[in-house]
Order: sequence, then C-alpha cells, then structure tokens
Amino acid sequence: MPLNDAPLLRALAGDRPDRTPVWFMRQAGRSLPEYRELRVGTRMLDACLTPALAAEITLQPVRRHHVDAAIFFSDIVVPLRLAGVEVHIEPGRGPVFADPVRTSADVDRITAIDPADLDTAPIAEAVRLVVAELGETTPLIGFAGAPFTLAAYLVEGGPSKEHLRARGMMHTDPQAWHRLAGWLARVSRVFLDAQREAGARAVQLFDSWAGSLSPFDYRSFVAPHSAEAVDAIAAPIIHFGVGTGPFLGDMRLDGRADAVGVDWRLPLDEAAAVLGGDVTVQGNIDPALLTAPWPVLEAHVRDVLRRGTAARAHILNLGHGVPPETDPAVLTRIVELVRTVDAERLVGAGR
Ligand code: CP3
Repeated sequence: MPLNDAPLLRALAGDRPDRTPVWFMRQAGRSLPEYRELRVGTRMLDACLTPALAAEITLQPVRRHHVDAAIFFSDIVVPLRLAGVEVHIEPGRGPVFADPVRTSADVDRITAIDPADLDTAPIAEAVRLVVAELGETTPLIGFAGAPFTLAAYLVEGGPSKEHLRARGMMHTDPQAWHRLAGWLARVSRVFLDAQREAGARAVQLFDSWAGSLSPFDYRSFVAPHSAEAVDAIAAPIIHFGVGTGPFLGDMRLDGRADAVGVDWRLPLDEAAAVLGGDVTVQGNIDPALLTAPWPVLEAHVRDVLRRGTAARAHILNLGHGVPPETDPAVLTRIVELVRTVDAERLVGAGR
C-alpha cells in the first residue's frame, strides 16, 4: 500500500477511509516500560538529540500498539536548545530556562539569533532512521510548538498555570511581544521543515496552552504567528490546543489547518458544527477515562467515534497527551476496539 493511501493521510485529505486512523499524543514516553528502560541515565533533551535513541523511542509505540501514525520523539523546546538557548527539562515539571525573556532588551537578545543558523542535523538524521524503518505503511508526524505555548515557558522561565507574564507582555509591550512571537514562529518553522524534508508526512502544531487566552487576545496576538509557522508548508497540518472551545473556529488558521485537534471538553459533533465541513477533526477521548473500568471506557470511545462521524473525517486520539501512569495495555485495547467498530460499520453499511 503506498503511503498516500495510509488512513491518516486520507483522513487529512478529507476522505473517510474504512479504517479510522488512531494514534495518541505522547504515545512515546513514560507510559511504556521499554521507554523508561532506554532513558535511564540520559537527560530528556540529550535523548532527543541522539538520533538512534530518538528514532528507537519514536518506533516503540508503533510496534506495541499498531497505531496508524508515529509521532517524532522530541520536544517543543528542542529547536530553542539548537538555537543556543539554555533550557533543561526537569522531570515531573517541564522546560526550565536559565534566562527568562521578559523585557524588550531580552527580546532583542534572543531574536538576534538567526533561526536559519539552527543545526538541525540530529533531527534530520533521527527522522530518516524512523522513516526507513516505518516503510510504506505508517506515516510519521512531525511537530513543533506554537509561538504562544513556547512563549508561555520562555517568558515565565518555566511551567506556569496561567501564563500571566506572556499574556501580560502582549498588553504592556505589544511590539516586543510581536517580535518575540514572530521569531518563535520562524524557529518552529525551521524545526518543522527539517522533519518534513527528512520524511515526515504530516505536521502537528501544538498550542497546548492557548486555552488560557481570551478569543480577542488569541486572534490579535497569537493566531497570525501560528499561521506564519505553518504557512504554505508542503505537508498536511494538524492544529491542536487545549481549552480552545471559545475560539475553536480560529484554530482553522484561515483554512491552513487540514485538521483541528479538540480536547475532551467539547463533543466532536459540536466541534464539527463550529468548524464546518472542510476540516477534519482529531480527538477527543478524555485521558481521565483511561483508568475507568473497561466497559465505561469502551462506551466513551464508541461515543467519540459516533460523534466524529459528524465531521468530514475523524482521526481518533486523546483530548490531550497520554498520562505517564497510563497502563499501556489500555491503549492497545482502544486500537483494537477501533478496528472492531470499523468492521461493524462495514457490516452495517452492507459491504
Ligand atoms: O509521543 C509524542 O507525543 C511525542 C513526543 C513529545 C514530547 N513532548 C516528549 C516528552 C511531544 C509531541 C512533546 C511536545 C510538548 N512538550 C508539549 C506539547 C504537547 C502537550 O503535551 O501539550 C509541551 C507542552 C511540552 C513541554 C514539556 N516537555 C512538558 C510539560 C514536559 C513534561 C515534564 C514532566 O516530566 O512531567 C516535557 C517533557 C517531555 N516531553 C517528556 C516526554 C516524553 C517527559 C520527559 C521524560 O520522559 O523524562
């Protein structure tokens, strides 16, 4: 089967393949014992920049769960590390920056780095290893952080709940904000292009913290920069955010997104009604239900699949990433359930 016929790529193109594509955000990572074993003694960002290790970690969940896509094992802050920014990922906490970017002078300092100078060789090498192994059956999704989610860490200096400093900068110094967000868009674009040129067949832009913004601020200060990060890129685009219900239509990025990721707060049929008939939906199993008794989770997954038929096409996923304490057998069982529902649909349609 040529890769163009892979269910994920057909769904992104707007078709409804007989096989519903399914993959999980954060499918590579701490829920897998084989991941925890490989990571012993290696810091997160060092693992991301060691091509053979990053490639192997990317492939682990594909082998185990038989999902319809691999997602490149890396992190949204990796391109910043490649730009020479001092950043670490603290286990259990997240990305931490030695020098937060808070003032106009800080913005001058960081934007003096030319994104074109990023050494993306370790990324390209890892992607090539993954793609060679995946062959013609399973596409690789490349990804990057959206400018706002990156800024939410960079301006604060680390993880925060409400991202007050980044949101504050938009209003106290809009010029500095736009310079920073524009630069982050170019950095993420370099990262996306490196993955795509090495063989990633789709890209996902993660704006995980966009839900902390008002619709007005999202439209005025964020969406134009996210659009710039993916503009005219030669691959289908999935645009994901958490808590984006109040401005879901804007997540289409004026038609640039081929699919919009929806979290668990909004049923997919309601999301599809807002998004319209020319975009695919991705989501939206509630990660909290992964620990529920199987009959409860099964009913939920079936409901998500049923509501997903309201959109032109549906990619089954969680509403956010796999929690580290998830029993991976549950994820495998969800993939098997999707195949069962696909088969029931074919019978129901008399085929
Ligand atoms: O399987 C996949 O989805 C691909 C791998 C991936 C990682 N990070 C690996 C990772 C992806 C797509 C990301 C993106 C990312 N990183 C996002 C957007 C996605 C989302 O979940 O909303 C964000 C917000 C980050 C920032 C970040 N990096 C956080 C909040 C953390 C967790 C810190 C912790 O220890 O709880 C990380 C670290 C990280 N990125 C881990 C993994 C597997 C855990 C590190 C470890 O295993 O030690």
